[in-house]
Amino acid sequence: MKSGRRKFLQQAGLGLAATGAAGLVLRADARPTLAVTAEEVGRVLIQMGAMPKEAMTAKGELKKITPMSYGPFYKPGSPFRGKLCTMGEAGTPFVLTGRVWAFDTKRPIAGAVLELWHVDTQEKYSDGVNDFRNRGRLISSETGAYEVEGIRPIPYRPNASGAPDFWRCAHFHLLAVSPGYKPLVTEIHFQGDPRKSDPMYRPENAIAVEKREINGKSFETGVFDIVLERDPGSK
Ligand SMILES: [Fe+2]
Repeated sequence: MKSGRRKFLQQAGLGLAATGAAGLVLRADARPTLAVTAEEVGRVLIQMGAMPKEAMTAKGELKKITPMSYGPFYKPGSPFRGKLCTMGEAGTPFVLTGRVWAFDTKRPIAGAVLELWHVDTQEKYSDGVNDFRNRGRLISSETGAYEVEGIRPIPYRPNASGAPDFWRCAHFHLLAVSPGYKPLVTEIHFQGDPRKSDPMYRPENAIAVEKREINGKSFETGVFDIVLERDPGSK
């Protein structure tokens, strides 16, 4: 194995058998992963409201919609798998890796359930009923690591007909759950996103993207570590 490839595999969370969890300690300056607040989600939902743009402008008031912390496109029951898209899915192949950490102990969390969902290249989410494209759940490994393969999400217009100028920055939605820790609902953004004027864009949550080629197959990859906070209500 060439050293470059080995280095990538280690960075990508592959080949973990030789690493083990014992030597892993969260870096001292790490902070809990930033969540998406209900207020921010509410702002998006207002933009997505069914009211025509003219009506909103004329009355000067926005339709209030109950915030949903998971966003409007979350669907329960997506399959457990490490590949989010179907074979031949249009888009740039993307490998997302990272590790789940406990903020209190600074140790990796094994067995955390992670759920990801994102748009396709048509700016659409699968319906999450019969079609689970670009949705999936997986479990962090014994060293807290995770890795999923799919396509890179693109910026999209949540309400292309009603608010055609309102763009969301590209993102993976992420839900992370582990007993004893606060469930985390957030988004993974991309450094250099052309739509980072989106008010929900968070530089702290933005990953660097690297282009890679292995065995003649090119893809992009990024690392997003997830830091969970202890739930004070749990024992
Ligand atoms: Fe979204």
